[in-house]
Amino acid sequence: MKVVDPSAPESIADRPKFHNTLRKECPVAKVTNPNEYYFVTGYDNVKEVLDNHERFSKLYGSQYTPMEKGVALNQDPPEFNEFRAIYNAYMSPRGVKRWADDCNRIANDLIDKMEALGSGDIQDLYGKPVPARVTAIALGLPEEKVDLYRKWTDAFLNAMIRDPEEQLRIVDEMYAFFDIEFEKRRKQLKDAGIENPSREDVGRTVGDNLISVLMCTPYRGRYLTNDELRRTVRGFFVGGVDTTGALMMNTLFRLLEQPDLWEAVKGAPDLLEEAIDESLRFEPPALGMFRGATCPIEMGGETIPEGARVLFSTLSANRDPAYFEEPDTFKLGRKVGKSGIGHIAFGSGAHFCPGAWTARLEAKICLEVLIRRLPKLRITGDVKHFEAINFWVIREMPAAWD
Ligand code: HEM
Repeated sequence: MKVVDPSAPESIADRPKFHNTLRKECPVAKVTNPNEYYFVTGYDNVKEVLDNHERFSKLYGSQYTPMEKGVALNQDPPEFNEFRAIYNAYMSPRGVKRWADDCNRIANDLIDKMEALGSGDIQDLYGKPVPARVTAIALGLPEEKVDLYRKWTDAFLNAMIRDPEEQLRIVDEMYAFFDIEFEKRRKQLKDAGIENPSREDVGRTVGDNLISVLMCTPYRGRYLTNDELRRTVRGFFVGGVDTTGALMMNTLFRLLEQPDLWEAVKGAPDLLEEAIDESLRFEPPALGMFRGATCPIEMGGETIPEGARVLFSTLSANRDPAYFEEPDTFKLGRKVGKSGIGHIAFGSGAHFCPGAWTARLEAKICLEVLIRRLPKLRITGDVKHFEAINFWVIREMPAAWD
């Protein structure tokens, strides 16, 4: 089996080339640097990894470092479906509209501050703080602690595969912070004399947010333990910030790159929605996640050994010419790929991103406000990305808007 290195400078410098070449030449490849895992590319192979839970399990989580087996998000269906039901409706397309006003307020607040500057790093001024604040509100964490959230999420991006120890240290710090929030709600419930909370208490006895939902929804005749709460909140927090910022900035970059598109979306919110979706296909912020092979698996003419960690590539799937015409071109109006199949930037199946509708809402509102209020926006320098192998996230985007 071919050995490849996703962390090599040339692989990072041109990610589409790296993922596309693998799909064409060796759809199942082995990685040994800095750790050993298997890299799966191509739409059909990736769908198989995502949808076949018996062979590709999420029991140890979706990162390189195996996490506690079978806890919270680390489950396979059918058991997992019951867990997911706790927050599914709350995060639905209709449910997430409750955060539309917050998105508007945060976007306008940040642009009020940006206007006077005339220029700056728009990722730093907008792409990072917007999703950090919206995710905090959605979860029910203090909105103003953006600097702390940034420290965690940046460190997470940098440490993910290169330094699993560092990742675990950050996780401990996050858990201590989350615990304070859990205690706050427990006290509120206790002070109200409520021993067995229900969804009725969300927005009444405790705030209307995801942590409250997780704490007030009975699950298998009990409530989630502190451990389950910590892990679930971490999943939502880490999953929601940089990915959504990347979606906004990637979309913005592609629109600014083609002035006709930039002009077209100014008066057409529907086109903006299409641009957001095409950005998800073209430059998926989550390039891939891990699974564990439960048995020896034949795929792409190779054998993945039992127990191996397996990384699936959303980018290679979204650019698979078997499903998408002119896959390496960013263009509006494609809606779905050939055969009516859409991109898999949000994954597929049982673990399909529960934040997908929040991310779409946030990107749409916050880009609309940005385009309306800063119509002269332009990129003025090199756009730089984080070097994480499985996230495609802008780190710096110099721009001017005066
Ligand atoms: C553009 C933005 C986003 C992208 C591209 C994205 C991408 C993904 C992908 C590909 C997965 C599947 C992982 C897997 O199968 O192992 C996923 C899962 C997840 N995402 Fe997102 N996500 C985004 C935004 C969000 C937001 C805003 C939140 C929180 C509000 C969130 C929370 C989660 C969680 C908790 C999971 C784990 C689901 C599970 O394992 O069942 N994501 N995301």
